[in-house]
Amino acid sequence: MQTIALQISIVLMLAVSGVFAWVIANSQAQAAYEPLLKPAYRFRAWLFALVVVAGAVITILSLSPWPHNSQADAVTRRIDVKARQWSWDLSDRAVKIGEVIEFRVASDDVNHGFALYDSDSQIVAQIQAMPGFTNLVRHRFTKPGTYRIACLEYCGLVHHGMEAHIDVQAPAAQ
Ligand code: CUA
Repeated sequence: MQTIALQISIVLMLAVSGVFAWVIANSQAQAAYEPLLKPAYRFRAWLFALVVVAGAVITILSLSPWPHNSQADAVTRRIDVKARQWSWDLSDRAVKIGEVIEFRVASDDVNHGFALYDSDSQIVAQIQAMPGFTNLVRHRFTKPGTYRIACLEYCGLVHHGMEAHIDVQAPAAQ
């Protein structure tokens, strides 16, 4: 993923550099202003429409799955989460599939970012951990595995080492 992002960045940087080089190379050229106006305005109108449509499509696609649905689930258990430089203190680290956990997230010192990753390294819930506040975020656990909690807000020297794990297990057979 990072390699692809790097390659795309390099291509875009080359494209932008190319535009700059083209503008510099042609900066001495003269052209009548009036005939250029109309196509330029038409191009601008198209560009505006494109940005509006792309913005709407990207917004709709990136809102799915709609995060507020998961917040509507009835809570079956609460876990207290206390963040501090540089660790997570959890009142519980074992969860069963089907449980809706409400994480009550606070901080002992500075702002941290509570992020819950599933076993495929996808973020499934996140919220700020702030001193003086208790922020609530819910998640319904539907997949087994080891979930990872990481800090998403730079909070000092060992920010990257701020990790904890939650074990998600299938309910015991009856
Ligand atoms: Cu805590 Cu970054």
